[in-house]
Amino acid sequence: MSAVDDVRARLAKHGQEHLLTFWDELDEQGRSALLADVDAIDLAAFETAWQQAHTQEHVVDPAMFEVPECLDAIEGRRARAAGEQVIREGRVAAMMVAGGQATRLGVDIPKGAFPIGPVSGASLFQIFAEGIAASNERYGVRIPWYVMTSKANHAATTSYFEEHDYFGLNPADVLFFSQSMIPVADEKGKILLEEKHKVAMSPNGHGGSLTALAETGMLADMTARGVEFISYFQVDNPLVKPVDPEFVGAHVTRGSQMSSLTMGKASDGEKVGLFIEIDEKLTIVEYSDFPEAMMSLKDADGRRKFDLANIAVHVLDVAFVESMTSGDAGRALPWHRASKKVSTVDLASGTFVAPDSPNAVKLEMFVFDALPLARTTMLLRTERSERFSPVKNATGVDSVATAKRDLVRRAASWLAECGVSVPMTADGEPDGVVEISPLYADDVVSLAAREEGGDREIAAGGSTLLRP
Ligand code: UD1
Repeated sequence: MSAVDDVRARLAKHGQEHLLTFWDELDEQGRSALLADVDAIDLAAFETAWQQAHTQEHVVDPAMFEVPECLDAIEGRRARAAGEQVIREGRVAAMMVAGGQATRLGVDIPKGAFPIGPVSGASLFQIFAEGIAASNERYGVRIPWYVMTSKANHAATTSYFEEHDYFGLNPADVLFFSQSMIPVADEKGKILLEEKHKVAMSPNGHGGSLTALAETGMLADMTARGVEFISYFQVDNPLVKPVDPEFVGAHVTRGSQMSSLTMGKASDGEKVGLFIEIDEKLTIVEYSDFPEAMMSLKDADGRRKFDLANIAVHVLDVAFVESMTSGDAGRALPWHRASKKVSTVDLASGTFVAPDSPNAVKLEMFVFDALPLARTTMLLRTERSERFSPVKNATGVDSVATAKRDLVRRAASWLAECGVSVPMTADGEPDGVVEISPLYADDVVSLAAREEGGDREIAAGGSTLLRP
């Protein structure tokens, strides 16, 4: 049997032989590209994932949803010293997931390279790098930063960091690793062709980060460095504190295996996952799966009952990730399905189709599905204005404009707290644009130390950048 016959037989066994529809028209280069693509797919694993995503196994009865216990911000403040100690001892790493395709933002650069500093134009990557550098300096450590990319943006991400000299971080402490890809199929499970010689693939969701950490040797790297706790965040939130001593401290003092930060929802319909408890297990239900009628339910005090938003900031024990990913004892995360618009080659006509309604299914794992698998968990409340303003869309809610606005509001409120007079407009917004680089200060306390005894004046309507 020739190589192609062999592949055809293998595909046929899984009902995917249509991937070779255009074989006869392809040149040598196209043929070898297509064979390589097909070779890279684990067809049996795809089938299992597909079936799992299409059974209702992991869907739970909303009648079982309970409101989980949540620690108040004050508990975080109490745990600060414990967090600072483990950071100082080099036991904490930062980890960022940046493998998404940024489709909603609609840019063809990695999302993290997008300029977001309201005055400086610093990119998301730069803002996080400076946050880590600030912690390095404060605690006298070199916090390793694990950055998850995907095939779609790996090269662009790594070269962006190189071009910018890793924003002053030691390149040995910035570690890139790629998540796996999974085929994209039509509603019936037939894998799509992106081009006649190319299988449509997409990243396997941020839940893929756990296995990717293990498979790419990053977990071993953490262990070699003495890292025990992973501070996890998403590339889209410029207000995040990459390594937050209060949150890490609360995780450690509570003996939690996986912990999450949360805050009240902005509105009933805000597109955030929600923390609930099922069978005494902390769980996140994604907004698209949360029964709409329950989003506005009120408790006995008239407050929104299910109000605890997932801001995608977690701390995970390295040992917990190891237990999740090691050999037979490992526990796989469930697969979810999402309907998407994907440009594809029409098999009948051979023409390229860019659909205007969803024609494809992407399969994804979510990292937060690890929460109910953890023996111990902890949920800590924080302030939205301090910690969360994601860049999801080009305009409107959760956009570039709202993230810049929230960076300015936070900078102005920190300055005001430090006794600096910040001019305000009649509608209560800072008058002008103020930005504080994390290198200058990454919270009110560090800002107060910088501004002590000073007589800073912020000019109305001007631009102010505080950077060392
Ligand atoms: C996500 C959460 C939602 C939460 C919100 C907060 C999910 C499914 N939902 O929503 O509960 O309230 O953030 O902002 O996560 N990524 C990868 N690889 C992938 C897919 C995504 O690294 O394969 C990364 C992206 O780069 C991004 C992050 O994961 O940093 C979030 O992904 P996205 O799909 O945009 O999630 P949201 O729907 O915004």
